[in-house]
Amino acid sequence: MTTSIHDTAHEQAVVHLQQLMKPRGNPDPYREYDRIRQLAPVLKSPLPAALGGYVLSRHEDCAHLLRDRAFASIDPTHMDTVQPHWRTSRTAHHVHQAIGFRNPPDHTRLRAAMAPHFTPRHITELHSLIDETVDDLLDSLSAHTPSTDPVDLIEAAARPLPVAVMRTLFGLDSDTARELARLGHLTAPTLDLIRSPAQQQRMEHAGTQLLEAFRELIAARAGAQESSLLSSVIEACGGPDPANDEELVGNLLFLFTAGHETLVGFLGLAVRTLLQHPDQAELLRNRPDLAPSAVEELLRYDSSIQITVRMAQQPVHIGEHAIEPGTTVLGLLGAANRDPDRTPEPHVLDLTRASPSPLSFGGGAHYCLGSFLARTEAQALLPRLLQRFPHMSLARAPTYRSPGTTLRGIEHLPVHLHG
Ligand code: HEM
Repeated sequence: MTTSIHDTAHEQAVVHLQQLMKPRGNPDPYREYDRIRQLAPVLKSPLPAALGGYVLSRHEDCAHLLRDRAFASIDPTHMDTVQPHWRTSRTAHHVHQAIGFRNPPDHTRLRAAMAPHFTPRHITELHSLIDETVDDLLDSLSAHTPSTDPVDLIEAAARPLPVAVMRTLFGLDSDTARELARLGHLTAPTLDLIRSPAQQQRMEHAGTQLLEAFRELIAARAGAQESSLLSSVIEACGGPDPANDEELVGNLLFLFTAGHETLVGFLGLAVRTLLQHPDQAELLRNRPDLAPSAVEELLRYDSSIQITVRMAQQPVHIGEHAIEPGTTVLGLLGAANRDPDRTPEPHVLDLTRASPSPLSFGGGAHYCLGSFLARTEAQALLPRLLQRFPHMSLARAPTYRSPGTTLRGIEHLPVHLHG
């Protein structure tokens, strides 16, 4: 029997996919993405469970996956077929009740409750909080001025900014917000497709504490007459009933974690990218008016959600591939963002690029609710950080988030503030 060129390309693409799907920090997944897109842009994956099915790496196909209602989110009923034992994970059991994993009518109900809190008008009210927080963080960083010790920019700026915003959105005191963020960071691997047994154990431990912390928060707010994000989610999930609160607690956990871990990840990646491209950093430093297009390009270049997963609900075609109902389909959003058919010279960072239109916030029914907020925070921080520390440089190679296959980011970003 002869092996066709087609079979060989498929086998090679699978090897690159296996390289990607590892529970480790990955400094650069983009070479693997390129190879998969070149060898088999619609790849039939032989990997087990949710990693099986098809893997898409072209921009056009990923956009189709996000927008076509023939594809549904992997909700609890789908999970029962894809991974029969998933309910043994307490954290996953709760998180899969959250908005990001639901389909209509539940998704519609949850989104209608949350969306009014994320409109541009609502977020504009947070502008002064964001500006003041950025100024305070940069002032504290300046206090390091005489020091030649490296500073971890994740702990000093990328994490405290989104945590301060989530504190306000959830109406928390700063100690509670910091503790929820600490636990959220440890629980976030629940959003990843891959985990080592040790990561799984750490996640479960932190997830259990985080679920309890949200239960305490709900109990503390019971009866309060307020119109907040928290009260809207409580109401949409049927009220604070401790005997039946999985959906409520799961949504709060998802919202809080999605709302700061993604942003910590993106801000860290964006600062690293700018430090690796001094000409572009100088451009943004001198032209802060470029912040909106710069943030779009940085989101395209390297962002914190790399993969989305759906399941075909009905027969559907991607290119010449007929996809059967019940098939899992992965969209490699990071690969789509560097697709040369969509973006000329995709590996070049160009902060003046017209309409980079990344898929970094997804698309369609599940388009990121926090996109306006995330853009606002990034546009506030990045130019001012570069202006305040014009000679900032990387002190060492960053440590990447692990696991980081789906939720990508930087764990530690040691910089010299003064070159
Ligand atoms: C740079 C930062 C961020 C990135 C890269 C990001 C990315 C994404 C992506 C790709 C999705 C869609 C996933 C899918 O369709 O499978 C999503 C959904 C979501 N994001 Fe974000 N996000 C960010 C920040 C935020 C913030 C700040 C919040 C809230 C405070 C937030 C809340 C949500 C929610 C609630 C959903 C689910 C929406 C739905 O299912 O209808 N995100 N995000």
